[in-house]
Amino acid sequence: MANKEDKFKKVIAHAKEYGYVFQSSEIYDGLSAVYDYGQNGVELKKNIRDYWWKAMVQMHDNIVGIDAAIFMHPTTWKASGHVDAFNDPLIDNKDSKKRYRADVLVEDYVGKLDAKIEKEVKKAAKRFEDAFDKDQFLSTNPRVLQYKEKGDAILKRLGRSLENEDLADVKALIEELEIACPLSGSKNWTDVKQFNLMFGTKLGASAEHATDLYLRPETAQGIFVNFLNVQKTGRMKIPFGIAQTGKAFRNEIVARQFIFRMREFEQMEMQFFIKPGTQQEWYKYWKEHRLKWHLSLGLGEDNYRFHDHEKLAHYADAAADIEFRFPFGFKELEGIHSRTDFDLAQHEEYSGKKLQYFDHEENRSYVPYVLETSIGLDRMFLAVFSNSLQEEVLEDGTTRDVLKLPAVLAPTKAAILPLVRKDEGLVKMSKDIVNDLKWDFSVAYDEKDAVGRRYRRQDAAGTPFCITVDGESLENNTVTIRYRDTMEQKRIAIDEIKAVVKEEVDVKNWLMKM
Ligand code: GAP
Repeated sequence: MANKEDKFKKVIAHAKEYGYVFQSSEIYDGLSAVYDYGQNGVELKKNIRDYWWKAMVQMHDNIVGIDAAIFMHPTTWKASGHVDAFNDPLIDNKDSKKRYRADVLVEDYVGKLDAKIEKEVKKAAKRFEDAFDKDQFLSTNPRVLQYKEKGDAILKRLGRSLENEDLADVKALIEELEIACPLSGSKNWTDVKQFNLMFGTKLGASAEHATDLYLRPETAQGIFVNFLNVQKTGRMKIPFGIAQTGKAFRNEIVARQFIFRMREFEQMEMQFFIKPGTQQEWYKYWKEHRLKWHLSLGLGEDNYRFHDHEKLAHYADAAADIEFRFPFGFKELEGIHSRTDFDLAQHEEYSGKKLQYFDHEENRSYVPYVLETSIGLDRMFLAVFSNSLQEEVLEDGTTRDVLKLPAVLAPTKAAILPLVRKDEGLVKMSKDIVNDLKWDFSVAYDEKDAVGRRYRRQDAAGTPFCITVDGESLENNTVTIRYRDTMEQKRIAIDEIKAVVKEEVDVKNWLMKM
């Protein structure tokens, strides 16, 4: 695949062609930054959610789940700071009339410096071959150090200006860096202004008696307001966590990049309640633990990196992103935030209810501190999907599109193919296999077209196994099992299929890699 842009276009087209992601309300020309998941997409999304839930809730005896409502009392958002501080700094280009997030324009500029560093690394790796030491190169090469120093200084200044609400300096920075509108190339910018991202709605039958509500911009607050309910009814002892997955809504202005930045999206969040003063140690623990979860899926260690925040959200005393190498570069995939007692203390103040924990060991009550892990399910979907889509040149010179999804996440685990569809014996045997396997796995039956074309179709849809039933199957109860990634084919007994597939798709075998 040629360049990044082509690769990304291919990802979007493939997601549509194979029933993963559709533009919302497409017959009406769609709705910007809103997407629907198709028959395969919904399964992949569910499998990612389950993989997260199993790792976070089922495998931790001190973490439980909840499912809070999307609508919350409007004071929630006053207390959480979202009414006053959940803003994006926006800037308009006077010539193209396009609106941008000012911080994203600057970050994209720094991203280009990072790309230059990567280019230098590639060049040097080629030149020095086996003798190449990447860490040494990164810490000594003058050109790399210059790019890095420049990028760090820019991000530091951006962080400081945003922290101090010095929007004039953010504009000055954009002008000094000579950042141009990506669409028109013009450098004719307006001032930077703040814009609240929450969607408002109304609850009630008549206009006069309606209550103004917000669609939740994060799922976390549903956890905070239920902190005492869960702690008391579950007799939870600190440290303990509450997890939830669910929809969140943000009126995003920079709504490009497919499902990376959506207006309606799903989060998977966990709030871990801890003793004040222990946040450093838990912050380190959850950063490492979450990275291990990502690495267990085998998308490649080089595709992840941490980005420690300079600019902290209004609630945090430390924060880092796990960034992933998307087709358009490294971007945030998950956030790990040390939220102090900000949220619970705020809810205490605004509700007038005590939200404290009595620590029997210390014989005192306190407002717990919170360590949060927060990942966008749709963003994780994009990470998995884009990384898995590969175009391979085969030995005979032809190419194949193959979606090398981690088998544990694949929507369909195996496709059962009778070699010849007109042979009733093969069809019956294939359907019997489907009916047996479907108790344990999601499987598909496919009889249309020559078997080679069916293999290609299943490769492109991401199915890890094809099981072909042929004349020999009728004689000795064996089938051919074909592996999507290697295209290797093996003859196995029908009785063995379940065990062979289970070995490769079993969540336990994948999570054990953590
Ligand atoms: N409770 C903390 C919180 O919401 P965040 O960094 O604003 O923190 C957490 O969001 C994660 O949610 C992000 O790392 C990202 O994966 C996902 N996310 C945020 N905004 C999104 C959007 N507009 N579209 C898709 N995913 C989004």
